[in-house]
Amino acid sequence: MNYEEQKFNLPEIQGLSKKNIEEHVKLYAGYVKHTNLVLEKIAEYSKDTTANGYAINEIRRRFGFEFGGMRNHEYYFGALEGGPVPLTSSSPLKKAIVTSFGDYDEWQKDFKSIALTRGIGWAILVYDKKAGRLLNSWVDEQHIGHLAGLPIVLALDMFEHAYYLDYVPAEKKIYIDAYFANVNWLAVEKFFEEAAE
Ligand SMILES: [Fe+2]
Repeated sequence: MNYEEQKFNLPEIQGLSKKNIEEHVKLYAGYVKHTNLVLEKIAEYSKDTTANGYAINEIRRRFGFEFGGMRNHEYYFGALEGGPVPLTSSSPLKKAIVTSFGDYDEWQKDFKSIALTRGIGWAILVYDKKAGRLLNSWVDEQHIGHLAGLPIVLALDMFEHAYYLDYVPAEKKIYIDAYFANVNWLAVEKFFEEAAE
């Protein structure tokens, strides 16, 4: 069973060029392709575990990177689908943000500061259903540091490829603000509902 590439209904994004978005979507497609490819290779190598033991170990390590790259981007682009829609005060997500972080501005300040972490990776908002709280976190590359068992609510790509045609790395803050200005919070609320199910 192969993973399917998701198609995103992306409007014009204020502050991010069409070209950058198009190139980025192509990179996402590459992660889907490689997720499937790695699964195929594992199945193939597993036919002879004695001869391929080393290769299997290495490619299993690779799997987390490719799978994370696929899934993270689905939240990233998924939150941009349909164009910007504000977060409503009465929404369960807004209430959960207030409960978890004090208020929306505190949450956003914390999330944005995490996004400025040196290196490549992701700023991620996740929901810990067991504790009934949201958490901000940093994920190195596509996969290192994902909090065990916690589904993603919002994912901000901090690889340079996310903004390289529009901004230099020293302008990361402008890119972060541009992303936030374009978020469709109705889509993010849906991710939160799924996370809280
Ligand atoms: Fe990316």
